[in-house]
Amino acid sequence: MNQPSVLFVCLGNICRSPLAEAALRAEAIAAGLAISIDSAGTGGWHAGSAPDPRAIAEAERHGIDISHYRARQVRVQDFQHFGQIFALDQQNLRDLRRIAPNGILNRSTARLGLLMDLVPGREGTAVIDPYGGTAEDFAQTWADVSEAARQLVARMAR
Ligand code: 4NP
Repeated sequence: MNQPSVLFVCLGNICRSPLAEAALRAEAIAAGLAISIDSAGTGGWHAGSAPDPRAIAEAERHGIDISHYRARQVRVQDFQHFGQIFALDQQNLRDLRRIAPNGILNRSTARLGLLMDLVPGREGTAVIDPYGGTAEDFAQTWADVSEAARQLVARMAR
């Protein structure tokens, strides 16, 4: 059986998508589900960098160490490697659709979607970029991505 695989994509891969990756890892472990999970950025400026210190601190508040995560830019192979790719906001989703390979030989097979579409009542909304914000904004990011992760695990467990 093919293990489900999920990629989270934001802009820099240092704030929102690493937290989404951490949240889904935690929910998958709690549910006993084996899921291959990664995150990436549409931009490459932070490639090789650890998550933003405020994202590391927010994960730490929930008992999760993400300090070893390293940012990377999304690549065309991701669209065939991952079963599902979730964009953290609408701009990320537009960028993913633009980057997705669409040739005869290397067409994207991943399902692309907006992360918050997983959460009833939050469809169509963004996980707000907390990069220019405060610790409270990072706490809101965690609340959003962990709720989406719970919904995704519940859906996969069905
Ligand atoms: P992220 O946040 O997309 O959630 O990782 C950002 C990180 C860096 C930048 C913007 C957003 N930046 O402009 O460098």
